[in-house]
Amino acid sequence: MHIHVVILAAGKGTRMKSARAKVLHRVAGQPMIEHVLAAAAALEPRSTTVVVGHQADSVKAALAGFSGLKFVVQEPQHGTAHALLTTEPALRGESGTLILLSGDVPLLSVKTLQSLVERHATARAAATVLTAVVDEPAGYGRIVRGSTESGEQIARIAEEKDATSAERQIREINCGIYAFSLEGLFDAVRSIAAENVQKEYYLPDLVQIYRQRGLGVETVTVSNPDEIRGINSRIELAAVSRIVRNQKNAELMAAGVTIEDPATAYIGREVTIGADTIVHPGVSLEGRTTIGASCEIHTGVRIVNSQIGDRVQVFNHCVIADARIADDVNIGPFAHLRNQADVRAHARVGNFVELKKTVLGEGSKAMHLAYLGDALIGEHVNLGAGTITCNYDGVNKNTTVIEDGAFVGSDTQLIAPVTVGKGAYVGSGTTIRENVPAGALAISAGKQRNIEGWVENKKGKGQKAKG
Ligand code: UD1
Ligand code: CA
Repeated sequence: MHIHVVILAAGKGTRMKSARAKVLHRVAGQPMIEHVLAAAAALEPRSTTVVVGHQADSVKAALAGFSGLKFVVQEPQHGTAHALLTTEPALRGESGTLILLSGDVPLLSVKTLQSLVERHATARAAATVLTAVVDEPAGYGRIVRGSTESGEQIARIAEEKDATSAERQIREINCGIYAFSLEGLFDAVRSIAAENVQKEYYLPDLVQIYRQRGLGVETVTVSNPDEIRGINSRIELAAVSRIVRNQKNAELMAAGVTIEDPATAYIGREVTIGADTIVHPGVSLEGRTTIGASCEIHTGVRIVNSQIGDRVQVFNHCVIADARIADDVNIGPFAHLRNQADVRAHARVGNFVELKKTVLGEGSKAMHLAYLGDALIGEHVNLGAGTITCNYDGVNKNTTVIEDGAFVGSDTQLIAPVTVGKGAYVGSGTTIRENVPAGALAISAGKQRNIEGWVENKKGKGQKAKG
């Protein structure tokens, strides 16, 4: 049986009060619709169609990286049944099962989706509705059941705004996720009327239509209602994001990572962390970041799309993005590593040091106040406080090479392109404009001059001026 996925993402999301399309708001660092696409992909569907409308272009652009998606535009948006109808041309001639997902229900698990598909197939139903029993059903459509010979069967779905006060007491809700047999589906959807408070075409009305026609409508109730939470407001966005983070934290802790304060750890879904690493409060680990074992990540650190080895200490308030750090390295506090910064084993980067497109070789040190950009720094190099690579000449970015064992004194400017040879020394306060040969000492500061009695002399003049 073929599976076709349709994801509804055309609605305005009025309650978000946002200029951005609702489905592009991020949950755990990823637009919410990407979470839905990831779950859908696990079903290996024959086709995946996204219904866009409000902010259609920005949604399409955001999903440009997903190959094989079909987009249909629903304009204007007259409700979820109307949205499904817009996919009819895209699915013409297809048979099998249509799985309908909502772009604003991002936590749905693959396991739940698979059980929906299975139940729908084994029951040979015309429609199968995913439901959940929740403590606070407000805002959701309620599952109204009626007794038949075969038990309490679903009779229809009552939307919150149209429900009677008795129906509002029902705690079983519609998740907005369904399996439909494609046979006759669109004709049936076309018969839905917009006779309700919102004057919209409600897809849930299909349940009653099918029941009246004597067609099979099944339900699958999720065991963990957290995973079908819909996002309609910023408060719900925060609540769902918290659920994702809690899950991730729990997985990491179960695998041997210490998270000192899970409430303030912001760890993205794709991040991996080795055992015995300690994450202090107020840390943000994002994107495709990997962190090795026995590391310590201190408060105020943000790491994005970076690879970090084992036994690395990242002290307070460092920002590390698109960087690579090998084993046994110490970074920070207050260091900034970005854009292909590459710190090799046993190296040390201290406070107020910035590295960009720079290799800092094994065992090398830049402990205080430095900018190292577009530099190739060898092994066991010592860079003094205030070392600056002048890598940009106003037109091009140029490379600084500092070979193994070199010693660069404090307050040195290296005007690139330039090379400091193996084991060479650079005196403090030097401006390096020419290559320094291996083993040489380079100094450019002028000879020091002392003016005897200068202070006394100046003070005397000052007093005279005052008097
Ligand atoms: C919907 C269901 C409700 C269910 C809830 C679960 C309807 C009428 N109600 O309510 O029973 O409990 O989801 O979360 O279906 N959309 C379009 N085009 C439209 C209207 C909506 O594409 O014309 C999309 C929205 O972008 C969204 C999804 O459909 O992704 C659901 O729409 P929304 O307005 O959020 O419906 P709810 O009020 O949450
Ligand atoms: Ca919704």
